[in-house]
Amino acid sequence: MSDQQAKKRLYIKTYGCQMNVYDSERMADVLAPLGYGLTDTPEGADLVVLNTCHIREKATEKTYSELGRLKALKLAKAAEGGAMTIAVAGCVAQAEGAEIMRRQPAVDFVVGPQSYHQLPELIARTYRALGQRLAAEFAAEEKFDALPVDRAVTGVTAFLTVQEGCDKFCTFCVVPYTRGAEYSRPVEAILAEARGLAAKGVRELTLLGQNVNAYAGAGGLAGLARQLAKISGIDRIRYTTSHPRDMDEALIAAHGELDALMPFLHLPVQSGSDRVLKAMNRGHTSDHYLRLVERIRAARPDIALSGDFIVGFPGETDREFEQTLELVGQVRYAQAFSFKYSPRPGTPASALAGQVPESVKEDRLARLQDLLNEHQTDFNAAQAGRTLPVLFEKIGRRPGQVVGRSPYLQPVHIEGSPSLIGTIAPVEITQATRGSLTGRLAQDAMAVA
Ligand code: 5AD
Ligand code: SF4
Repeated sequence: MSDQQAKKRLYIKTYGCQMNVYDSERMADVLAPLGYGLTDTPEGADLVVLNTCHIREKATEKTYSELGRLKALKLAKAAEGGAMTIAVAGCVAQAEGAEIMRRQPAVDFVVGPQSYHQLPELIARTYRALGQRLAAEFAAEEKFDALPVDRAVTGVTAFLTVQEGCDKFCTFCVVPYTRGAEYSRPVEAILAEARGLAAKGVRELTLLGQNVNAYAGAGGLAGLARQLAKISGIDRIRYTTSHPRDMDEALIAAHGELDALMPFLHLPVQSGSDRVLKAMNRGHTSDHYLRLVERIRAARPDIALSGDFIVGFPGETDREFEQTLELVGQVRYAQAFSFKYSPRPGTPASALAGQVPESVKEDRLARLQDLLNEHQTDFNAAQAGRTLPVLFEKIGRRPGQVVGRSPYLQPVHIEGSPSLIGTIAPVEITQATRGSLTGRLAQDAMAVA
């Protein structure tokens, strides 16, 4: 985007050494995808960054007097109905960030030299605090940014949005910018909608949210699930997508105690390398994740896990990719989604050095998917000979066939009457492929029918 086309004006004042000059250029690069173009005066700018220097004496005092002048410009812009964001970067920010915020309230945020890649996040948070959305050029991409739904809604199953938005700011992701802050719908509104769905014959609810387990209504997601399970007709509850950081004790315990909560959990990890996880700003290590999985399995030993993975994040080495394979080997997912890293304009990771060549990403994705597919096939094969309760949803493609879902979300095909639709019946699994199971109604079900 050229400076003329830029919708927002960015003024950076640089003090000190050559390093700071270089950093100012980097900040301008990171901010360009958000629609900021450089301007050479602070008057009327949308964002002013003071890139400070500590070396020379009086540098700090100079920063404060400059901030005083900027405050006047900020007030002038506000008087015209506009907004000026003021940020302090560089060594002074690093050394006395909190003091700056205290002494000069016109400063919106401070950012140290280690955190320039987080500028888009800091700006998005500032805008949110002002009640505005960041009008950046984020082209939405269905496969990454939509709510994670890959099932058709039948009369028997329904989706119910309970939470929206995301405050996690993973450095590869646009959702926190495009969808805004985490918001939880009130419990009562959700219960009322669920009762309405149950009255229409829905027996399984999938609770949706970008960060569904960050649900902050009374009792959190565990409390909500417990209340939903009391609604007559609602026999099954699922939820997606969960963040490992929000998987609290109450929710883990609910998996062990609440029959309606299905033993299937989509819990994305993205990578098995701690360095990559940190660069992704995931807020957990691979070890945290593995210990979390252990605790969830202790509560519900048969739980099926699903995940999301990104290969070829900037700077990912062969060894770091291998660590993802190792984590997958330890968890053994029942199902997973995996993607090649795709730089999204406006996100911090898109401005990182060390972008991985496409051919390397393709190679890694193929290797990862081979392993994930192998595990999915094994997981399904292990169901052969078991009897699983299946909620029948619709007639199948072949004549005489009806299709439903196992507790582990696998599609299950049987020969049977369409009158089974809307009921939960035990099915003896006779065959398994990677994508689905085949079986027959168990004897005790036939006796009832
Ligand atoms: N590149 C690759 N994968 C991405 N995802 C989100 N953003 C990107 C990106 N820029 C993936 C993550 C997320 C899933 C919904 O999409 O794995 O969990
Ligand atoms: Fe995106 Fe991360 Fe939020 Fe998921 S948790 S929506 S990947 S920022």
